[in-house]
Amino acid sequence: MPQNEKKAGTLRRIIIIDDNPDIHKDFATILTAKSDLSQLESLESELLGTEQLPPKWRGYQFDLDFATQGREGLEKIKFAMMHQMPYQLAFVDMRMPPGWDGLKTIEEIWRVDPDIQVIICTAYSDFSWEEINQKLGITENLLILKKPFDSSEVAQLASTLTQKWILAKKAEMKRDELERLVTQRTKDLNESNQQLKREMAERRELAAQLVRFQKMEAVGTLAAGVAHDLNNILSGILSYPDLLLMKMQKDDPMYRPLSVIRRSGQKAAAIVQDMLTLARRNVAVKEPVDFSALIRDFLDGPECRSILGYHPDVCIDTQIGSESFAVLGSAVHLEKLVMNLISNAAESIEEMGTVTISLDYEQLTGALPGYGAVKPGGYVKLMVADQGIGIDKDDLDHIFEPFFTKKKMGRSGTGLGMTVVWDTVNHHQGYIEVNSKLGHGTSIAVYLPISDRQVEESASKVKQEDLTGRGERILVVDDVAEQREIATAIFEELGYAADAVTSGQSALDYIEKQPVDLLLLDMIMDPGMDGLETFKRVLSKYPDQKVLIASGYTKSDRVRSALQLGASFIHKPYRLEEITRAVKNTLYTSSP
Ligand SMILES: Nc1ncnc2c1ncn2[C@@H]1O[C@H](COP(=O)(O)OP(=O)(O)OP(=O)(O)O)[C@@H](O)[C@H]1O
Ligand SMILES: [Mg+2]
Repeated sequence: MPQNEKKAGTLRRIIIIDDNPDIHKDFATILTAKSDLSQLESLESELLGTEQLPPKWRGYQFDLDFATQGREGLEKIKFAMMHQMPYQLAFVDMRMPPGWDGLKTIEEIWRVDPDIQVIICTAYSDFSWEEINQKLGITENLLILKKPFDSSEVAQLASTLTQKWILAKKAEMKRDELERLVTQRTKDLNESNQQLKREMAERRELAAQLVRFQKMEAVGTLAAGVAHDLNNILSGILSYPDLLLMKMQKDDPMYRPLSVIRRSGQKAAAIVQDMLTLARRNVAVKEPVDFSALIRDFLDGPECRSILGYHPDVCIDTQIGSESFAVLGSAVHLEKLVMNLISNAAESIEEMGTVTISLDYEQLTGALPGYGAVKPGGYVKLMVADQGIGIDKDDLDHIFEPFFTKKKMGRSGTGLGMTVVWDTVNHHQGYIEVNSKLGHGTSIAVYLPISDRQVEESASKVKQEDLTGRGERILVVDDVAEQREIATAIFEELGYAADAVTSGQSALDYIEKQPVDLLLLDMIMDPGMDGLETFKRVLSKYPDQKVLIASGYTKSDRVRSALQLGASFIHKPYRLEEITRAVKNTLYTSSP
């Protein structure tokens, strides 16, 4: 059979099922007879010796097959179906003894090939059309052909019904193709829909993050606006009690009230500091910090003791090995992070309980809950877990927001602790994971990238005992009267010879007449030169002059420049112990 026709699905295959072989011959004659025209053409080519053209058949070319019994016909149809070469049309005789009759045969045929067109050939009216319909069901794939048949009628029926079959197949293919297209399109649409949903969720998360950043920005702007003035005010509240308490016996009736004033001042200073941290006016120093040592020092230090002092029934279980982990960052901020996590954990325990602190190495490769992709690499994982009250599901989304607190205002509860934690973690390119169940406790894991830079030994510190001066001359340069007053009072008290001026220019004039051992320079002074400018002028004339810069902004660009030029630094507001230590360090351990 011609391959191209088979491929195109246009080869017309017909099966004739009749017990009479003569009938087979009749069909063969009718359906394969050459047209007159083609006979003429072959005669012409014989006579003229021209090349014989392929024979043209009248109408369509049919591929005929024959069976003498219903079962045999059925087998051939099954075989054809199996090889994807179905018949389009079957002529089925009604009476075919000894086997199945026509109706039974058709019934069986349609079971395996429901699309085949069938013509029942019958000489008798064995069954009425209604009976046939009843038996085979109402169908448009069946015709009755009365014997003896008319040749042209058979040829026409064969042509028309095979054509009908082919057209039906084409329509079916078209429908399948359409269905496939619709399915594909639906799938594409679903995928776009999912993608859109993902993008919307991402956008929502980004928007939430933006709001968080904006809130911090707002807190920062506010803090930056008030911090300078607030720090100057706090200096008085912090330093005078120090000075007075130093001269006072513990049983003095004023000792306690003064201590309370001092503690309140410290708390207020801590809040200003937190706000400044968030304002990022304090650009974190990126130096290698031994994170394990920092935690150990914190746990042994006075701040942790004071936290535990408030919570006597809370004990701390530490699981920190001797291994040290270097983190590139700011020790001050990292200490705040540790302090806030531990104080929150301790505060969450209402009666008795344990806060577990562990430190481990963790290799992050993929994702962390709450984050998309995380930067792969080695991290130190600090875990602070408590058996406290836990955090409400709704609150979990808010704990990092500035001023979000569920605690009583006054005791703890400014709501900046976790904000500082979040900010610090972000600033150190780390990750934070919170797990909490109401009534069952909370565990917070902080991941910080490990640095391969060596932790430098810090400059030797002056021992606490020898904080007193030996008459060294100190010039305090500050535009705020209280600051000058406090500083000079402290220095005088400790045995230094202190004097004060109000501006950079007067400082220059002063040291020209009377050299000093140390300049305590305020950074922001209004009007006139600021600390950096003054320092530069001083250096140009007296390159060996020791200078201690005081500022509320730990590391602003101008402070940073002053440090690079060799100045020391003290954070404002300072406590008595801090300023005297800084003075000693500047005088005897640092060189300009
Ligand atoms: N370990 C914890 N267990 C239970 N709740 C916690 C824990 N850590 C944080 N929270 C909840 O998150 C809130 C915010 O904590 P955050 O440290 O920012 O503020 P705060 O502790 O209320 O005040 P402060 O500014 O003094 O730290 C807390 O008020 C508390 O409700
Ligand atoms: Mg807190």
